[in-house]
Order: sequence, then structure tokens, then C-alpha cells
Amino acid sequence: MSHLERVQEELKRRHEQALKGGGDKRIEKQHAAGKLTARERLALLLDKDSFTELDRLRVHNCTEFGMDKKKIPGDAVVTGHGRINGRPVAVFSQDFTVFGGTLSRVFAEKVCKVMDLAMHVGMPVIGLNDSGGARIQEGVDSLGGYADIFLRNTLASGVIPQISCILGPCAGGAVYSPALTDFILMSEGTSYMFITGPEVIHAVTREEVTKEKLGGADTHNAVSGVAHFKGIDDKDVLEECRKLMTYLPQNNRETPPHTIPRDDPDRDSDGISEVIPEDNRKPYDMSVIIRKTMDRGSFFEVQKFWAKNIITGFARMNGQVVGIIANQPQHLAGCLDINASVKAGRFVRFLDAFNIPIITFVDVPGFLPGTAQEYGGIIKHGAKLLYAFCEATVPKVTIITRRAYGGAYDVMSSKHVRGDFNFAYPTAEIAVMGSEGAVKILFRRQIADSDDPDETRRALVEDYEYKFSNPFKAAELGYIDEVIRFEDTRRKVVRSLEVLKTKKRTNPWKKHGNIPL
Ligand code: HXC
Repeated sequence: MSHLERVQEELKRRHEQALKGGGDKRIEKQHAAGKLTARERLALLLDKDSFTELDRLRVHNCTEFGMDKKKIPGDAVVTGHGRINGRPVAVFSQDFTVFGGTLSRVFAEKVCKVMDLAMHVGMPVIGLNDSGGARIQEGVDSLGGYADIFLRNTLASGVIPQISCILGPCAGGAVYSPALTDFILMSEGTSYMFITGPEVIHAVTREEVTKEKLGGADTHNAVSGVAHFKGIDDKDVLEECRKLMTYLPQNNRETPPHTIPRDDPDRDSDGISEVIPEDNRKPYDMSVIIRKTMDRGSFFEVQKFWAKNIITGFARMNGQVVGIIANQPQHLAGCLDINASVKAGRFVRFLDAFNIPIITFVDVPGFLPGTAQEYGGIIKHGAKLLYAFCEATVPKVTIITRRAYGGAYDVMSSKHVRGDFNFAYPTAEIAVMGSEGAVKILFRRQIADSDDPDETRRALVEDYEYKFSNPFKAAELGYIDEVIRFEDTRRKVVRSLEVLKTKKRTNPWKKHGNIPL
């Protein structure tokens, strides 16, 4: 056998070994747990035959605990680049069958290499997480490796989209790489994220909790708000990830891909008037108005299960990707609270960083009252949303559907915080507060002293409603550009976006702002 033949033979052997990961038994175990392997996942995530692998032959260089005798080409992560709907992405997929997917120095270097590549060429990074965390045998070298990734996550934030799919364990400090990325997707029943696991929690606090309850997909989608999406299994999550990618640009110098519109930009937004009840205390579903306005079938909700009093999501208007922020009167009457402010504030910042216009639908009675909110810091959290809307320079179109009261009126992409086009329906009520509350404060004595307090109060409420519970004052002052007919909503938004296509606004130079964290 010639030297070249020997090398080729050895190359073949190493490739085969890399493709087998931790071997048949561990692959079987992975499948039995309802999970796919790192490579099977990449095959589902990426366009067919588009994956180019890098560093397949790298091996760890740990010698402790007999590790020098256990080396698998590629180590515990598969890295490279591929395409999603024809557009390039950098990827890494943690391989749980190899040393439990744990992070070695070499593993970290492989991930850093594709992250650097993504930054140099301006493409998104998608990480598929399934790992036992820091590789114990490598000690602090592993911790250093994590920090190298955290640093890159942070520097890449706002430059390229970063997405994390959690498809297995993700515990301890390892959660902070996904936490620094833009979107987290989780698989139900097979993934979990937590800083300290159930055993440690029990040892310290005696609290009993399962992994699933502590940090499963439902918990992080509905309770903590850490995750943005969930899927029933790996395949579902990866499909959702591909869908999400269709709304994102490659980097912060581009806009998201424009699709050929399949909906008439000029059609009536039929049926909106029937959605909004005449009685302003009655709830209705704001998502119906969103759907009637946007390109048919294009609305894609983000963080659907958390802070339901505000809706966030992507959609398309005449083929152009937009971001939606909307109060949801069906939950907590559409009040802004801590969670809603954090959810919407972060999404507004994502949209602004990646050149996506913001469409805001407003029906907000104010900030949620109560000691829980005040002690929890609604002042600083509410300020996050205000800050985000204020600093956003992308096109901003606002539609007030009903109530826009108090500070929440200012916050929700009002004219005063650089809303470009601010519309209101005839049902809009733009005021410091609702009529009942206002009358109570302004006319307490007059009501108490009158012969018929109920009748006096009723008359005063009626008078206040006539004067303030309408869009006229705001329109007279130019805070509302136009009071529009319900059926014109889509047309007005499409035209606004067309004229705003060349919008250019910048903020004062600064190293970075100091958002109230
Ligand atoms: C080295 C590890 C490992 C680790 C698992 N393995 N975790 N090897 N370092 N941290 C190995 C196991 O020995 C096993 O090897 C294989 O991976 C699969 O693990 P199993 O335990 O058999 O799998 P399973 O029963 O599914 O349990 C998975 C697990 C459990 C829940 C992740 O392994 C576990 O609790 N591991 C420890 C997790 C942990 O505490 N990590 C440190 C977290 S702190 P064999 O050869 O038998 O297949 C952290 C800090 C990050 O990560 C710091 C960032 C700043």
C-alpha cells in the first residue's frame, strides 16, 4: 500500500468514525429518548445537500482521567455552514452521543470559528443545543471556552441574527449562550434549561420540582418568558426555525427577504368595525384586526404563550416583512405590565436592529396597578418599552383602535416618540384616563354635595366622554395624522410603508445607551 493509499484509508476511517459520533448504542439511546442526532437535525434544518462541514477531524486534547484514549473525530459538536431557503447560515449542532455533548476547549474553538465566519460574511448563526454542559475532565478550560462563546454572542448581537434551538439538556452557565441570542426555540418533553437543577434546589431549599416543571418548554414559553417558541419534537422545532428565518435579514445592513405578494395591497380590511365592541370595557381579540390588516396567512406570532396582554410577531405587508406590537384587550384588559413591557421592549429592539418596520396597534387602558407591579419594578421595566420605542429609527406606523390612556399612550409608538404615521379609528379614546376615573378625581366634591350623586356622576361621565373619549383633540393637535375608516386600515399601512421605504433617521452618537435594565 502506498503512502497516499494509507492516508486515504485512514481518512476514510476517521470520516466514518466522525459520522457515527458516540456509536450505535448511544445513537439508539438518543432515538429512544425521542431525540434526533446532531447530524439528523442539521439535515432537517438545512436545505437538502447544502451542509458543508468544518473541523470534522478535530479532536479534544485533554489527557486527564484517561481521556487521551477516548477521542472521536469532530468531538462533541458538528459545525459548518449551509442554506435555509437558499440563504447561507452558520450552524453548530451539539452531539449528545459524544461525551454527552459536553463542551471541551476544542468544541468551543469549533463553535467560535463558525461564529467568526458568520460575522465576517454577515450571515445568521443557528445553534442546536443538547449538552451535559462543561466537560468536567477539562475543568476551567471548558469554562473559558464558554466565555469565548458568550463574548462572541454579545459582539454579534444586533449585527447578525442568532437563534438557539434547545433540543436536550442545557444547564448551569451553559444557558447563557442561548440567553444572549435573539430567539430560543424548545422541544416539548425533551429539552430543559435551568441554572441549578432539581437536586441542587432540593439540597438548598428542600423544594421539590421536576426538570420539566423547572425548565421545560412549557415553563420557559409560558411562565419565565425565556423562550420564544416551542415544538412538539425536534422536527417541529426545526421547521419552526426555518419559518422564523424567512422573516429575518442576513445581517443588520440588509432587510428581510421580500416575497412576491399574494394579497391585494388595496383590499378593504373588512369586518374590523364588528370586532371592536361599542362598550369600551368589553374585550375583543386584537389578533383578528392584525390578521385582517396583514398579507393573508403571513402573521407569525412570537412569544405566543407569555405576557399575553401584548402581542408580538412578524407579518408581511405587500410582501415586505414588518414587526407587530399590539395590546391585547382579551388579557388583563390590554394593560401594560412588567412582562408585557419586557417582551415588547426586547422585540422592538430586535426589529430596530434589523431594519424591520414596526406596526403598533393600540388599545391600552394604562399600566397595571398594584403592589406586585410596583414592588417588581414596573417603573424600570415599563421604561424599557418606552426606551425601545423612543430609540427605534425604523419606519413606525401606529393605529389606535380604542383606548390610549395616560403614559401608556405616550409609550405605544406615539407621535411624540417619533411615530411616523399615527392613525386612529373613530372608536379611539385618547385621554389621560377613562371617563369614570377622571370624573371621580375631578368632581368628587361636586358629586358628593349634589342631591342625586348617581345622576350627577352619570351626567359628568357623559360630558367627559363627549369631550375626551374620541380622537378629535389628538387630531386637532396633529398627534394623530388621520382618523381613518376601519376598512382603509390595510391600504393606509401599505401606503405608509411605501413612502417610508427611504426613511433615514439616526440617533446622537454614543458608545451605547443605558437602557433601564
Ligand atoms: C463530562 C459528561 C458530563 C459532563 C454527562 N457526561 N455530563 N461528561 N462532563 N458534564 C457524560 C456521561 O458520563 C455519559 O457518558 C454521557 O455524557 C451521557 O450522560 P448520561 O448521564 O448517561 O445521560 P443522561 O442520563 O441522559 O443524563 C444527561 C445529564 C447528566 C442530565 C446531562 O449526564 C448530567 O446531569 N450531567 C452533568 C451535568 C452537569 O452538572 N454539568 C455541569 C453543569 S454546569 P457515557 O460515556 O456513559 O456515555 C456547566 C457550567 C457551564 O455546564 C459553565 C459556563 C460558564
